[in-house]
Amino acid sequence: MQRIAIVAGARPNFMKIAPILRELDKTAGVATTLIHTGQHYDKNLSDVFFEELGIRQPDIALKVGSGSHAEQTADVMKAIEKTLVEAAATSSPFDRLVVVGDVNSTMAAAIAATKVHVPVAHVEAGLRSFDRSMPEEINRLLTDSISDMLLCSEPAGVENLRREGHDMSRVHLVGNVMIDTLMSQVERARSRDTLERLSLDAGEYGVVTLHRPSNVDDRETLAGLLQVLVEISARVPLVFPIHPRTRARVEAFQLTELLSTAPRLQLLEPQGYVDFLCLTSQAKVIVTDSGGLQEESTALGIPCLTMRANTERPITCEEGSGTLIGSSAPQLRAQLERVIAGQYKPSQCPELWDGKAAVRIAQLLVT
Ligand code: UD1
Repeated sequence: MQRIAIVAGARPNFMKIAPILRELDKTAGVATTLIHTGQHYDKNLSDVFFEELGIRQPDIALKVGSGSHAEQTADVMKAIEKTLVEAAATSSPFDRLVVVGDVNSTMAAAIAATKVHVPVAHVEAGLRSFDRSMPEEINRLLTDSISDMLLCSEPAGVENLRREGHDMSRVHLVGNVMIDTLMSQVERARSRDTLERLSLDAGEYGVVTLHRPSNVDDRETLAGLLQVLVEISARVPLVFPIHPRTRARVEAFQLTELLSTAPRLQLLEPQGYVDFLCLTSQAKVIVTDSGGLQEESTALGIPCLTMRANTERPITCEEGSGTLIGSSAPQLRAQLERVIAGQYKPSQCPELWDGKAAVRIAQLLVT
């Protein structure tokens, strides 16, 4: 029996582990253990994804919670090490640990496992923004540097790992596992009554998400972006499911009043997976700084104005429907005008973003 531990910690991890877990659990001779670090713990950032995506309750819940980067990383490392060491002392130690994405839990689990000699497979390996001011970039670099198996979602990931001198026999282009989840849920999502509840018409509204420090931690930047969104919402209604850290900044910077001047800009609580996919899959435009949403927009073929100076997911701009905007309010306004005028660029869905990435990943994990 091969024992595989799968680690999830924060919201963007959950849609990636769901199909992998499902495939591995169908495979004879494999026993999986799901470990939730507890980096995200709010119902609407965590539990709702387990319920909607049919992920079983975690076998092990580490409950580390929030903290500074070092605190959170250290807490996950200590808890994962304890888990793996305890298992090693039994008759059923872990043969492998799987981590996904680029959050603090990903890096912390990978370091702890490697040091107690449990080989690590990293799903979504090789992505690089080349911007070391982003915590996720540090997490990506460190995780890849110590993982035994590097599973890439797009060709740029393979190229980055080659350039960094990785042993290419450990690197595999498997496609995008998050798109497996999207494809399996999109029909169900579109049949939800989310649009009616929010008084929106399909194809006639925009979806906004912003949570990165580069957009929300500086008052002037955040106020500039919100001002454009307020203006545009008079012509295209916008929905803005707001991350807890962004809501805190809006309040601290006293921008609540600015938002209240725009009746057609609706602030929502963070949405569950299915309601959110109902919104994104029928939107006219998406404005975001999320990594995952850049990819989902590309898979859906919906214009995505990416509020980042760079992207570790270049295929979303080269082939897909993404355009890099930085944190620039004028750029945001100009590109929104292009979308409204029907002059946005055409796009296509990348190869291997085909709903079958988890099958390829499971095959590699069990060989
Ligand atoms: C994390 C990831 C980021 C990902 C994002 C998606 C890192 C470095 N960042 O950022 O890559 O895009 O998740 O959401 O891992 N909080 C709550 N409830 C929760 C969890 C957090 O209110 O369940 C609040 C707390 O005030 C916390 C803050 O959000 O301090 C930040 O949470 P944290 O997990 O550190 O990072 P995110 O900004 O969510």
